[in-house]
Amino acid sequence: MFKSVRWKIALLFIGLSSLIYILLSVVGAIFFYNGLSHAIDEDLRIFASQIGHAINLEGNKPAFRDWLRVVETEPARSVTSMQLFDTQGVLLEQYGARGIPKLLSGGPEVSENGLTMRVRQTKLMHKGNLVGYLQLQLSVARREEATHEFLATMGIMAPFVLLAFGICSYFVAGRAVEPIEQLVSTLRNFVGDAGHELNTPAGIVQARAQSLGRKLERDGIISDDLAIIISSAERMGKIVRDLLLLAELDAKTELKTNAFDLAHLLTAIVEEYKIRFDEKEINVSLQCNGSSLIETDKDAIEMVIRNLLENSLKYTHSNGVVRVSCQTSGNSIKIEVLDTGIGIPSESIGKIFDRFYRVDKSRTRSTGGSGLGLSIVKALVDGLGGEITVKSQLGQGSTFTVSLPLSRKAGVAQKLHTISF
Ligand SMILES: Nc1ncnc2c1ncn2[C@@H]1O[C@H](COP(=O)(O)OP(=O)(O)O)[C@@H](O)[C@H]1O
Ligand SMILES: [Mg+2]
Repeated sequence: MFKSVRWKIALLFIGLSSLIYILLSVVGAIFFYNGLSHAIDEDLRIFASQIGHAINLEGNKPAFRDWLRVVETEPARSVTSMQLFDTQGVLLEQYGARGIPKLLSGGPEVSENGLTMRVRQTKLMHKGNLVGYLQLQLSVARREEATHEFLATMGIMAPFVLLAFGICSYFVAGRAVEPIEQLVSTLRNFVGDAGHELNTPAGIVQARAQSLGRKLERDGIISDDLAIIISSAERMGKIVRDLLLLAELDAKTELKTNAFDLAHLLTAIVEEYKIRFDEKEINVSLQCNGSSLIETDKDAIEMVIRNLLENSLKYTHSNGVVRVSCQTSGNSIKIEVLDTGIGIPSESIGKIFDRFYRVDKSRTRSTGGSGLGLSIVKALVDGLGGEITVKSQLGQGSTFTVSLPLSRKAGVAQKLHTISF
């Protein structure tokens, strides 16, 4: 149980870490991208002021003073395109053929013909008059590449980072559940020890009360008080034994495995219960389809069936019907116990497997239930690697279905067992 809790915590942690990692990667990429854009703008600003010195503003149109010298400068080699325009936006000179050859308007970034350029325009002034424009364009290809590389690196690192997170979280989860595990084990031991201690006196009270009852009966005395003491002692003994069994099941005592014929087992149990069903005038029947050879813990299955039959018997009125069936389907075998009894209210369906839960406490007290039967059934079915489901309608009846994994040995000849009483 704690192993699965540990795994659940570790997986949850890995899930959350993955989300945080993805979020951080995206936010990181956005920051990185914006940082690079600012760096490009800063470069353009510096280049513009450097190149500005190499422009001749005399005469009526701006011109580069010395092409060769300009082209040799660091800014000229760094920018994608360097252009001079007159006041009307007519291109006068251009260096760098990969640029967009026109005076661009609209934003620091312009895309045209598959090219995306970061643009800076500087007004060229001579003696207070506008004489033209210097336009610098810088391709953003390197920024895009760097951002893709950043994301790719984060992607490549992701499995390693998450593996490291996973290993750490598994260990941390292990440490976190340790004290809870200890506490639960102490509680479990307490229930077990208390159960053992109570079992003996409960047994003695029951035995002595019964013997006293027999003595009084011989003397012709019938005591209602004693009858109540005897039935209460029986009930107490049953609760103590059920609690002990649950404590054992919680501690995951190894279930035995034996191959047996489920139909035979069901027949024997149903036959045994038949007298009690007859007494209540309930029609009970059993039907098994397919192979019923199963390899699992026979005692556990017997306990499951007995508990379900006890309930059907308890919660079905006279003239009702109880049908037990088993059926192989695929890799599992289904055992169904259907009754036309009082049914279970829908709000209680999720609770009936809880310890000490009873739908109607006063009614169940009169029928002698403790509310532990179905929790034992659930613990047993879980221990056998199966599952139990219930469908019920108030006043109509209930169907409990237990699905259990089949053993490999079960794939023998199909048989049909139909036993009706
Ligand atoms: N076949 C059934 N029909 C109607 N109610 C049922 C049936 N089986 C179980 N229940 C309800 O579920 C409760 C829990 O069942 P269980 O754990 O076996 O305890 P109990 O000792 O009362 O039988 C019962 O008290 C009853 O209210
Ligand atoms: Mg019961």
